[in-house]
Amino acid sequence: MEHAVEFRKITKRFGSVIANNSVDLYLDRGIIMSLLGENGSGKTTLMNMLAGIYFPDEGQIFVDGKPVTIASPKDAYDNGIGMVHQHFMLVDVFTAAENVALGLEDGKYDMKAVAARVQEISDKYGFGIDPNKKIYDMSVSEKQTVEIIKILYRGADILILDEPTAVLTPQETQNLFKVMKNMKEDGKAIIIITHKLNEVMEVSDVVAVLRKGEHIKTVRTNETNPDELTEWMVGRAVELDIARLDPVNPTPRITIAGLSCRDSEGVKKLDDVGFIAYGGEILGIAGIAGSGQKELLEAIAGLRHLDSGSIIYSPEGAAPQELVGKTPMEIREAGVAMAFVPEDRLGMGLVGGMGMPGNMMLRSWKQGKGIFVDKKAPEKLAEDVYKFLEVVTPSLDYPVRKLSGGNVQKVLVGREIASSPTVLMTAYAVRGLDINTSYVIYNLMAGQKAKGVAVIFVGEDLDVLLQLCDRILVMCDGKVSGIVNARTTTKEEIGLLMTSEGGNK
Ligand SMILES: Nc1ncnc2c1ncn2[C@@H]1O[C@H](COP(=O)(O)OP(=O)(O)O)[C@@H](O)[C@H]1O
Ligand SMILES: [Mg+2]
Repeated sequence: MEHAVEFRKITKRFGSVIANNSVDLYLDRGIIMSLLGENGSGKTTLMNMLAGIYFPDEGQIFVDGKPVTIASPKDAYDNGIGMVHQHFMLVDVFTAAENVALGLEDGKYDMKAVAARVQEISDKYGFGIDPNKKIYDMSVSEKQTVEIIKILYRGADILILDEPTAVLTPQETQNLFKVMKNMKEDGKAIIIITHKLNEVMEVSDVVAVLRKGEHIKTVRTNETNPDELTEWMVGRAVELDIARLDPVNPTPRITIAGLSCRDSEGVKKLDDVGFIAYGGEILGIAGIAGSGQKELLEAIAGLRHLDSGSIIYSPEGAAPQELVGKTPMEIREAGVAMAFVPEDRLGMGLVGGMGMPGNMMLRSWKQGKGIFVDKKAPEKLAEDVYKFLEVVTPSLDYPVRKLSGGNVQKVLVGREIASSPTVLMTAYAVRGLDINTSYVIYNLMAGQKAKGVAVIFVGEDLDVLLQLCDRILVMCDGKVSGIVNARTTTKEEIGLLMTSEGGNK
């Protein structure tokens, strides 16, 4: 049988970067393939060549054994290939069916017929989508479903899903996997990109590993394991364990009550939030993206105007103090550190033109000392961060702006850890980092906890939250929907809290 898709010696360069280097890879129908690789290993680029977004510099793509030229998304559809990208491309004010119809046959279609067909596809695979529902009324998971239906409508039987589970709750992920299995039974060839090894093991029949743009191996999923896959991805064995001690003499450090705030449009972002964070423990914060995690950390750091609430900080050997009303600088000086990694990593409070010591100085600069800062401290910090986190830089003084994203991020997180805080808040600390560095960071957090620091860890990967944290606070719609014991809870329980169905508030 001919392969559904075959890449032969595919090479793609961006300037001097070789995103894909002579990749040989094939996929058959009735198979789900996971495409695995660290950030920047070339997964999206390879799939974009199948989807008609990029064109290979060298090599040939075959569909059903025939050489094809895929120079546009339309060519991709003509070859039965459809891709769901990480960023959805839907029009909010349109319905599901209207979005599916967008771009069809120069606008000559019968909307009723489109809606009926969308319903049919939805029923066939169990998507549960209402064709007439508007996108702005949909959850992220429903929007993703519309994207999938959109490519199925155009006749795709080779489907590519680029990190679809990154935005889903565990329950939604299970639904997606069910639907993927239905489509596979129906003879479709499916490629899923995911970083989560447990998902790879669960959903795929075969797994292909890329490293630095090269295809390392494709194996049957039931003949491999996470450790081996990681080794292929990284190029060497990686310890995927997080050392979790029992909480060390837990002492309240941050006591929050009745915290509420709105965004600039007046939409409620935090709604009566209350909890205690203890020194000597790691409090994880889970939730669907945009549930108030960011606003919560910003509120504690003094970066948000609040409608109401109090944040009492109780440092060791000093009287408890109210943080609400203090400036961000005062809060930092008092020992509350925050490393927040936004999507755009350079917007994270580093000065791009400065080298590492300069950026360390921004943090370790103590009020009262004026401009006569102790120059040794930041240099020592920079060196420590450089060594611990294996920052790849030509020199410590090299402008941070010119470092790669992952390295910029190491500087940011390392700087906060190295400032010896009493409370350490991090959000998305490992976003975009390779597995190896991610585990270095997790274990640094565990080390901070062992020192008695109150660690508040906002994370995206539930498996990691379950391994790393002592308790997990779950947010839904700006509210605390539950606080669970990380040692005894399950992903399902957290998933329910994320959508608030199991909420106890
Ligand atoms: N449009 C582009 N322009 C320049 N470089 C790019 C572009 N797209 C990807 N790259 C580079 O190609 C490499 C592979 O990227 P990508 O395919 O996105 O990796 P992955 O999806 O595995 O994280 C990276 O070094 C990335 O910076
Ligand atoms: Mg990618």
